[in-house]
Amino acid sequence: MKNVLVLHGPNLNLLGEREPAIYGTATLAQVNAMIRLEARRLGLSVRVFQKNGEGELIDLLHRHRKWADGIVINPAAYTHYSYALRDALAAVAKPVVEVHLSDISRRERWRRVSVIAQVCRFRVMGRGPRGYEIAMKLLSNRITKKSRP
Ligand code: DQA
Repeated sequence: MKNVLVLHGPNLNLLGEREPAIYGTATLAQVNAMIRLEARRLGLSVRVFQKNGEGELIDLLHRHRKWADGIVINPAAYTHYSYALRDALAAVAKPVVEVHLSDISRRERWRRVSVIAQVCRFRVMGRGPRGYEIAMKLLSNRITKKSRP
């Protein structure tokens, strides 16, 4: 069985009440339930975490790097400026899918920049919570095929 590490970045613990017009009304617990269901459907094992701190997300990547075959991450605002998180994803060297609930390519100029995109195999944005399901499927296809890492 392949292993997927799912990381949610800052403020995503407030999903459901945080700017619902942009991020929707589903809570993080509901989103995580969807992720776990999709993992079960795809035959993947998942570990899911949400952290507000940049260092905490990096520590999780380090801690679970040997276990994980792939990573799904919504780095939230760190997407736009965290070279430390980018470097951590590069260091761990597992396939990564970048997820955003909103379509960051159609929002403020500063949100259109992703410093982690370069180290990600796929990007899913603007699909709401379903985006995580799409990310899990993309990653599953990637890691269950025995081609290049
Ligand atoms: C987000 C988009 C980011 O710009 C923002 O800072 C977030 C959430 C999204 O899921 O749409 O916190 O990553």
